[in-house]
Amino acid sequence: MIPNQWYAVLDSHDVPSGRPVSIMRMGERLVFWRDGPGKVACVRDTCPHRGAALSLGRICESNVECPFHGFQFDSSGKCRLVPALGRITPPPKVLAARSYPVREAHGWIWIFWGEAIDNLPPVPYFDDLDRLFSYATFPYPWNAHYTRVIENQLDVMHLPFVHYNTIGRGGRTIVDGPISSLEDETISLWVYNRKDDGTPARRPDEIPPTHRAPQIYFRFPNIWQNNISPDFRIVAAFAPVDEKRTVLYLRTYQRTVRLPILRELFNGIALIGNWYIARQDKSVVETQEPKRSDLHIGEHLVGGDGPVILYRRHRRALLDAAGIPEKP
Ligand code: FES
Ligand SMILES: [Fe+2]
Repeated sequence: MIPNQWYAVLDSHDVPSGRPVSIMRMGERLVFWRDGPGKVACVRDTCPHRGAALSLGRICESNVECPFHGFQFDSSGKCRLVPALGRITPPPKVLAARSYPVREAHGWIWIFWGEAIDNLPPVPYFDDLDRLFSYATFPYPWNAHYTRVIENQLDVMHLPFVHYNTIGRGGRTIVDGPISSLEDETISLWVYNRKDDGTPARRPDEIPPTHRAPQIYFRFPNIWQNNISPDFRIVAAFAPVDEKRTVLYLRTYQRTVRLPILRELFNGIALIGNWYIARQDKSVVETQEPKRSDLHIGEHLVGGDGPVILYRRHRRALLDAAGIPEKP
């Protein structure tokens, strides 16, 4: 995982009020809870005293209380109370749980995975999703590394095969381009698939410039948008669980149907359709070897893989900058 970035790791509804929840993310067991006013906190779900799961405890005011000996920890991981020493005695500083900065925005819970710094950047999102949009979200667990799940959403060659009876109907197997660019930590992708008429695929530099908006946006490190139409979008968050698992959060946004019950009904039906399409992807992506993607994993890429290559290159550049070498 690329360090020092905001990752959307949960939907807001995943963390209820009144009790801590234990969730595996970023290769670690984490505990999330809401304090009195509802602000979300996140620390490693292992008590620094003797290793019990903090998530089995309860929330005391703003703190999480360990179920074993009642030590309390605040949202920064600092120990606030050791009952056995007495309320009057300051807890030893060494008793600190590893914490992560948390933001709740756009209906997601984000953690800043890395070293806590003073001036945290804003969470990355899509400015064009205004308040007129409503949405529904579906968490979909995959047995795949998050890089493979992301790459699948940048892969335009698979459409007529994996989705031959859904979004890839029509046998448009030739992939002209595709055009992809990277700016402001965002990959924009334009798709030019067509039927094979006996002419070869055109390279990106053979495609005339366009003013049309990209179909796909991917914002590092883990959110994606499919710009289906001005009023209908699909957004995904790729929440890394560990080296072999990812939760793909699928979310449909629309601003055509606004009446409350109809709106929920429409959003729910749209979500079922997208779950079906994602299920087609999942069955293939889970078989990919090696599990984790990187620049040099022995694959033989072709022209249509351009957006995947762009993703891999930029991810590798960010990892190199963080001093994380490519694993053999
Ligand atoms: S193990 Fe948590 S308080 Fe002792
Ligand atoms: Fe797909």
